[in-house]
Amino acid sequence: MTQDELKKAVARAAVDYIKPKLESDSIVGVGTGSTANCFIDYLAEIKGHFDGAVASSEASAERLKSHGIPVYDLNSVDRMEVYVDGADETNADLELIKGGGAALTREKIVAAVADEFICIADGSKWVETLGGFPLPVEVIPMARSHVGRELVKLGADPVYRQGCVTDNGNIIIDVHNMKITNPKATETAINQIVGVVTNGLFAERSADVLLIGREDGVETITK
Ligand code: A5P
Repeated sequence: MTQDELKKAVARAAVDYIKPKLESDSIVGVGTGSTANCFIDYLAEIKGHFDGAVASSEASAERLKSHGIPVYDLNSVDRMEVYVDGADETNADLELIKGGGAALTREKIVAAVADEFICIADGSKWVETLGGFPLPVEVIPMARSHVGRELVKLGADPVYRQGCVTDNGNIIIDVHNMKITNPKATETAINQIVGVVTNGLFAERSADVLLIGREDGVETITK
């Protein structure tokens, strides 16, 4: 199977997984990226089964609306049963690196609200140790150089993502060459740097369920 076919397979599996949990007033949290896009397209097939969605990016909001799925502001939502999103890397503890699409902060906020975080990923995202994929860090623009220097002190190799402005009007620094052996500690340490909005480690709020697409089918891993 191609990577695209694996993304479609896990997106389909996610819709099958959440469908029995949804009620007419349910709100579905929706992530960002190419795998999340596949999920949105399949979610549209069951749009009569839930009320609407909260999106983790402007791009996902537009895609949801194009399918006729109502999109709510997170502040108007009391409860969200599920959040479904992709990842750039996952380890066996379902700790993730996210933010390749620069939507990490809104993704982290929506994931924090959801009762259950379902991560969907093709098999290429599975790693022993996080950090092969450069870790995205969202930064207030005026703090760019300061944050870069502080990241160097942590032993990292920060690279400014040229031309990227997040939905929140901030910039992204990608942290290269960092073997993340203690994801929770690294997540906390980077978030302590003044000027950092958040970083793309989802360790404090890891996924609850991983649907991972492999050649022989979609494997479900729960914590
Ligand atoms: C968006 O900011 C990211 O967190 C995505 O969820 C992540 O990059 C995975 O994207 P793909 O599904 O396109 O690989």
